Amino acid sequence: MSDPPRPTPAAAVRARSPGRVNLIGDHTDYNEGLALPMAVDLGTTVTFLADEGTRVVLRSSAEPEPADVELRVPLDPRLIQTLEPSWARYVAAVVAAVRPGSGGTGTVESTLPIGAGLSSSAALEVATALALGCEPDPLSLARTCQHAEHAATGVPTGIMDQLVVSAARQGSALLIDFADLAMRHVEMPRDVDVVVVHSGESRSLEHRSYAQRRAECEAAAHRMGPLGRLDPEVAQAIPDALLRRRARHVATECARVRAFTAALGGGDMHGAGRLMTESHRSLAQDFEVSTPGLDALVDALVGRAGVFGARLTGAGFGGCVVALTEPGALDLRAFRTPAWRVRAAGGAHIVTDP
Ligand code: GLA
Repeated sequence: MSDPPRPTPAAAVRARSPGRVNLIGDHTDYNEGLALPMAVDLGTTVTFLADEGTRVVLRSSAEPEPADVELRVPLDPRLIQTLEPSWARYVAAVVAAVRPGSGGTGTVESTLPIGAGLSSSAALEVATALALGCEPDPLSLARTCQHAEHAATGVPTGIMDQLVVSAARQGSALLIDFADLAMRHVEMPRDVDVVVVHSGESRSLEHRSYAQRRAECEAAAHRMGPLGRLDPEVAQAIPDALLRRRARHVATECARVRAFTAALGGGDMHGAGRLMTESHRSLAQDFEVSTPGLDALVDALVGRAGVFGARLTGAGFGGCVVALTEPGALDLRAFRTPAWRVRAAGGAHIVTDP
């Protein structure tokens, strides 16, 4: 007599999320402003096989210890931020936010540098959330993962990173209006390179300083209304010098995002590059999130033939610089720090091919 048939094990689900580079528009997302980030062709893949257990266990090729979390872990930031190894905090926060029906095991593979400012954490969150069965609509996915990011890190970040890695379209950057989360795909010209260069500085000061900048913006917005909607001239009238500088950065940065988008569309790469470099100066002088290393790298890049412009990208306080260049203008092997030529990738998705 033959054995009764065994239930077929559920098939593994594989989900992939790109990282992102922000072309222009930093520290605008939590101010109801504008930004133009681009998903990149470096990313993170999570493969998950559900089982009958009560734990989610993921192993990463980049980490010695697995993330081993309880299926019913509460979405309690104080608890999640004590978990070890530290990358398990992201996994736990996503498990708590998505609430998958069953535990399971899986793997994480990534081509993204960790902690470099290319949103390796957003990519991990979004790929994990999708693999665990989160609603794949980009806005729900991004909101769930932004919530998870807050629980995992305690940093009150905006939604830019999770939204662009969820909603991007291949070949385009994504213009986001954070007042109403309206999005427009902006085709990238084919005859330019987007180059990302690591400054060699890790972003150690980011956590406290990011929250401080956000609080300063809120203090200015309390008087003036959302800074992303403010006329740069009006920002000039804020009596407090520090709040005036913060507001001026956000207001002028949103104007630069509009002008940059128009320059890209009109093929004016010199104009687009100039706006990127102006954005860097504003982030350095008015928003004070640059470092001497980032400033030196931007200066070195904009002095090179074929470079239209360069700026720090993301939160600042270290991390990466992004440059817009003529094709092949920069030899990536000549940098002492890691550098990548990136292309506009599509958003996170379930991988269906074998
Ligand atoms: C980090 C945050 C984003 C955004 C940028 C700065 O990447 O996660 O929400 O605020 O910094 O533009």
